[in-house]
Parts: sequence; structure tokens; C-alpha cells
Amino acid sequence: MGEPLLDVRDLRVYFPVFKGFVQRLLGGGEAVVHAVDGVSFSIEEGEVFGLVGESGCGKSTIAKTLVGLVRPTSGKILFRGEDVTGMDRQTLFRLRERIQMVHQDAHAALSPAMTIGEAIADVFRAHGIISEAGERVPVHSDVLLRKAVRGVLSDVGLRPPEFFYDKYPDELSGGQKQRVVAARVLALRPRIIVADEPVAMLDMSIRARMLEFLLELKERHKLTYLFITHDLATAKFMCDRIAIMYLGRIVEMGPSDTIYADPKHPYTRALLQAIPIPDPERRRERVLPRGEVPNAVWPPLGCRFHPRCPAALATCGWEGRDFVTFLEERWLSPETAQAETDIGPVERWQADGLVASREAGDADPAVLSERVRKMLSDERGPMAQAIESVHPEADSVVVRFQPPDALEVKTVSGRLVECLLY
Ligand SMILES: Nc1ncnc2c1ncn2[C@@H]1O[C@H](COP(=O)(O)OP(=O)(O)OP(=O)(O)O)[C@@H](O)[C@H]1O
Ligand code: SF4
Ligand SMILES: [Mg+2]
Repeated sequence: MGEPLLDVRDLRVYFPVFKGFVQRLLGGGEAVVHAVDGVSFSIEEGEVFGLVGESGCGKSTIAKTLVGLVRPTSGKILFRGEDVTGMDRQTLFRLRERIQMVHQDAHAALSPAMTIGEAIADVFRAHGIISEAGERVPVHSDVLLRKAVRGVLSDVGLRPPEFFYDKYPDELSGGQKQRVVAARVLALRPRIIVADEPVAMLDMSIRARMLEFLLELKERHKLTYLFITHDLATAKFMCDRIAIMYLGRIVEMGPSDTIYADPKHPYTRALLQAIPIPDPERRRERVLPRGEVPNAVWPPLGCRFHPRCPAALATCGWEGRDFVTFLEERWLSPETAQAETDIGPVERWQADGLVASREAGDADPAVLSERVRKMLSDERGPMAQAIESVHPEADSVVVRFQPPDALEVKTVSGRLVECLLY
């Protein structure tokens, strides 16, 4: 295979977060959101490559970085082998035309005060009229401009184009608006279209037709898609290859049919089990493993999925805060909480990296350590197994975890997986 059309290498995008007054007083390092944290993938010409994952895993941040709306913190983006991360504005401007984005909210992308025709004409005025071969003709007459606008309207199925030319966005349906957005994008003759949840805001009834329309456009214009969705059923329909993301990282990547037939990463398995039966009347139900998606400011140690992973091992990244969560959950039972009041309350426990600790106060730290050990003695889960020691230190009891094993991306049955099970 030749050079990929798009090659993303070890991309990282961190956003600074505003720290509250108290947090600043307490000090600590710079807080950043690790929105995208070491992501690599490449897309071949003509491919539909899917980025799939729950809300907040970094899909849109990748999309925005690719079209130049967000600056990468580090890593490289190569378009046909050329590094677009460090280019001057002018070259970048031309190149960025080749990578265009379709957002989920077509309505917000269109100005309500501008007719459809004008919205598209605007693109031609700014960039010139670009031929299929990539030649650029400056707009020198209204007749030429109208002809070009009619051409793209017709191309996206808004026919007859004269009918739509003078309409305002408010007079169109959701699907028609998304087609206008597609027309604006196609006017630039892009090579790659980054489609970020393009049908998420459309009525269920027209989603399938919209997806088919996108595939049709791809064939007709020999496009390549980066297709973003949190919906696995949509990804299965659209994508040749998919990457499953979790908290800023790709956890499994490969041909869609391979992954759907036999998911290897526990997170992919959980996601696939959570695919809802299509029913517009019912809200989508998710039976993902327990717990919220952790926050991306302090992502979990080791494998980021470990707090929720049903297959987790003792080496997957257990740390002090997992012990605090364990206590919280344990003491949801009032009897247990009652019986273990001397170890609690949970607020007195502090987590710092691989350690959880609690000041013994009036109690004897050695006695308290013994109590904690006893409490853990019938715990069989991977968290408990990962605890290296429980012992008194000065006037505190300290629970210390073993460091996690290093994660590596491995080839497993024809796809890439980042998981210690392999
Ligand atoms: N400009 C920003 N400043 C600070 N944090 C941001 C910014 N943009 C995104 N984030 C954070 O980065 C993380 C990834 O966000 P992103 O929008 O890329 O996720 P997503 O996968 O597209 O989610 P969704 O499915 O909800 O669209 C989230 O924690 C989000 O809050
Ligand atoms: S490394 Fe694999 S087994 Fe361990 S927590 Fe992560 S997904 Fe689960
Ligand atoms: Mg998004």
C-alpha cells in the first residue's frame, strides 16, 4: 500500500483548565484536560474511517485539530506525507481546504439571515470556483457564480436548485439543511471530509437516508471520510475501519467487520453489548460497566478503563483513589458502615498517586492498619490484589498499591488492541 492520505502520529491535545481560588491556594501542578492523549492512526484514500466512543473521549477534539481549529499540544498530522502541523498560514489555508468538516448542528452552521444560495456563493467568493481537477477560477461574474451554486445544490440533491436558491435556512428541514452544509463543504473540493456526528441531530426517520447520501457523495467525488459517532450501529453501517476511543486514547482499531464480529478490548465488548434496539420511542439504554467516565483532568493510572473494566487485573493501574471509591461503595450498606465506623468516614481518607492514607487521630495507627487489613482479607477483586501493603506510618495508616504494568499496543487477530489481557 502507498502512502496514507492522512497520517496522525502520537497526537496530544491538552486544554488548560481554570483552577478555582481554593485549588490555587492549595497549589499543585498546572491542571489540564487530557482531551487527546497519544493517538495515532492513518486513513487510506477512499476509506471511511470511524472514531467511536462515549461523550468526552476526545473525538471532536481530534476533528477540530485536523481542520486547524485547535492546535495540537504535540504530535504530527501528515497529509499525503506532508507535515501540516508546522506550516505557514498561507500554505495551511490552501491545504486546509482539502480537509473539511461537517458538524452535527447544521442549523448553527448556517446564518439565518442569509439565503441558501448566498451561503454557498460566499464560499466561492472567498476561495474561487474550484474545478474537479483542483483548478481555481476567480469569481468574475454573477452568472458564473449562480451557475456554480446551482451546480452544487443539484449535486447534493436539492433540486431544482432555483427553488432552493432563495430559501432561508428556517424554511428547510433538518435533512435539507445538512445537505446545504454538505454543499458548502463540497464547493471547496476537499479530499477528506471530517464528519462529526453528522446525523445525530436529525430525525430518526431520515438518518439512514442521510448516511446513504453521504456514501453516495463519497463515491461520486472520490472522497475519504473521517466519520465520528458515539453510535456503534451507525459506525458499522458507514465505516471500513474503526478506532474505539476511551478517555483520549484509542483502545482498539481495525476493520469494522473484524471488530464487530469479535471485539477484543473489554471496553469495545461493553460498548457492543450496549447497542440499543433501534426504537425512536425509547431513549437509548446503556448497560455499560458501573461508574461514570472518569474525568480527563486526572485520568486513571495505567489503563484508563480499569475502574470500570469487568476483566481488570491487579496490574491494570489500581491506585489510592480506587481504594477511596471502594470504601465509598462498601459503606453504601448502612450495616457495613456501622460496623466499620472506626475505619471511616470516607472523608478522612486521602488519595495521592499509589497511596491512600488516613490520619489515625486518637486511634493507634497500628491497630487501625490491622483493621483495614482484616477488612480487605475477604476481598477477592483485582483492586484488593493490587494492594502491596497496609501499614502504619507516623500517625497515619497507609495503603500502598503496586505500580501498574506498562501498556503496549499489540496486534491481536488482525487489529490493534491496548490491553494487558494480550
Ligand atoms: N476548548 C476546551 N477547553 C477545555 N476542555 C475542552 C475543550 N474542548 C473539549 N474539552 C474537553 O476535552 C474532552 C474531550 O472533548 P471532546 O469534545 O473532544 O469529546 P467528544 O468525544 O467529541 O464528546 P461528544 O461525544 O460529547 O461530542 C472533554 O473532557 C471536554 O470537556
Ligand atoms: S488493561 Fe485490559 S484488562 Fe486491564 S483494565 Fe484495561 S481493558 Fe481491562
Ligand atoms: Mg463531539
